[in-house]
Amino acid sequence: MAHVAQEKWSSGTAFLLAAIGSAVGLGNIYRFPYVVGENGGGAFVLLYLGIVIVFGIPLVMTELTIGRRKQVPPITAYTQLSDGKKSQPFWKFVGFSSVLTPLGILGFYFVIAGWTLNYVYSIITGKLSNLVEGQTQQVFADLTSSPGTLIFWMTLSLAITAFIISRGIKAGLEKAVNILMPMLFLILVLLVIYSAFNGGMAETFEFMFTPDFDKINMKTLLEATGQAFFSLSLGSATMLVYGSYLPKDTSIPKLACGVAFADTFVALIAGFAIFPIIFANGLELDSGPNLVFVTLPVIFDQMPFGQVFGILFFLLLAFAAITSTISLFEPAVSNLEERGIFSRKKASLVVGTGLWCLAALSALSMNVLSDVRLLTFNDTVADKNFMDLLEYMSANGMMLVNALFAAIFLGYIVHRKDALEELGLGDSLLFKFWRGIIKVVVPIVIGYLLIDFLGYGFI
Ligand code: PFF
Repeated sequence: MAHVAQEKWSSGTAFLLAAIGSAVGLGNIYRFPYVVGENGGGAFVLLYLGIVIVFGIPLVMTELTIGRRKQVPPITAYTQLSDGKKSQPFWKFVGFSSVLTPLGILGFYFVIAGWTLNYVYSIITGKLSNLVEGQTQQVFADLTSSPGTLIFWMTLSLAITAFIISRGIKAGLEKAVNILMPMLFLILVLLVIYSAFNGGMAETFEFMFTPDFDKINMKTLLEATGQAFFSLSLGSATMLVYGSYLPKDTSIPKLACGVAFADTFVALIAGFAIFPIIFANGLELDSGPNLVFVTLPVIFDQMPFGQVFGILFFLLLAFAAITSTISLFEPAVSNLEERGIFSRKKASLVVGTGLWCLAALSALSMNVLSDVRLLTFNDTVADKNFMDLLEYMSANGMMLVNALFAAIFLGYIVHRKDALEELGLGDSLLFKFWRGIIKVVVPIVIGYLLIDFLGYGFI
């Protein structure tokens, strides 16, 4: 098989920007605030921070290490690192499953990314002006019930992503994050300042940082872990691939901490952009898509300079989404290109076409196919339409499975020396601590979460 040499990031900073771009996405700005709202605020935030430190950072280090050790795409990395082991075919399969998972995520992520682009357009063209809450509800319902509109905006988000990917690492991914990430941070800061002047900052502080420990139970633990994994882009081959482009002279532990810190910081800051204006307007903390797509537009419509900040807010979401979709698209393209099956451009086209079909089915499952149920034999999923099922299987199920196997692989299968050299921590206490986490703590906790996922949980 003709293996094609991989491009590399031009520096550790370039990697950092791209990896933060991957981590910071709809998960931080669209999902984190409403999950915090649903789970009672401060206690959930505290739990989330604990999970990021205890499992999140060690797992990001694990996936970057597997990727960078041989500097090859995920399937090849798993195959080469298990060379000579009887279990090699199984690990090859784990590599394969890691590459498929982000495609499943993109199947619904592109649709939501499309909503954000549609909202930028709708505010600019005045479709979201002079409305009250019931009417914004109607605007959102009109969008989700219109197959043509949904597919149009989904296709746009997919086409932008595929175009960036087709240009390669330096001319495509690096260039995109160099432009989008600074804009993203700038918009976020502007929005927080705007919120500070117009909203209930004191209530937000109280809500986010006063923990009510009665609110913590097994369910919140599961919710927080799932959210942390999704937000840190774990279990989806993204960190494996981004790690494989990482120059050898950069420090994986430092970069992993940088990514986790920035990702968590942005999630918290997103709370400070959104909650104050909601509290100040005496509105309910809506759950699910309603918080961002129904409640916020009403507020932006009524506040001074609201139209400008409304556009900025949805642009922020769109930028965050696109720097994540490119990281979800890259693993499959990287594998096809390395194996010499397709050129990068052709691979982007082929993967893009497949994904378009998947995302179109998701879009249709909100309207014309809304009654179709695929898995009716299992109670947990029986009532989910195609898009919800895709999200549940990829973001809740497969991500956990892949992250679990990555930890077991590096902890038990790959030679200790490989991790020791790659992490550059020496045979220190820190290194032993990291290994203990991935060999013991991660398997126990993810194992438990998976039991719950399969519907046999104790909660
Ligand atoms: N971390 C992204 C977010 O918070 O929206 C989503 C994501 C990107 C998940 C890349 C997984 C991944 F591999």
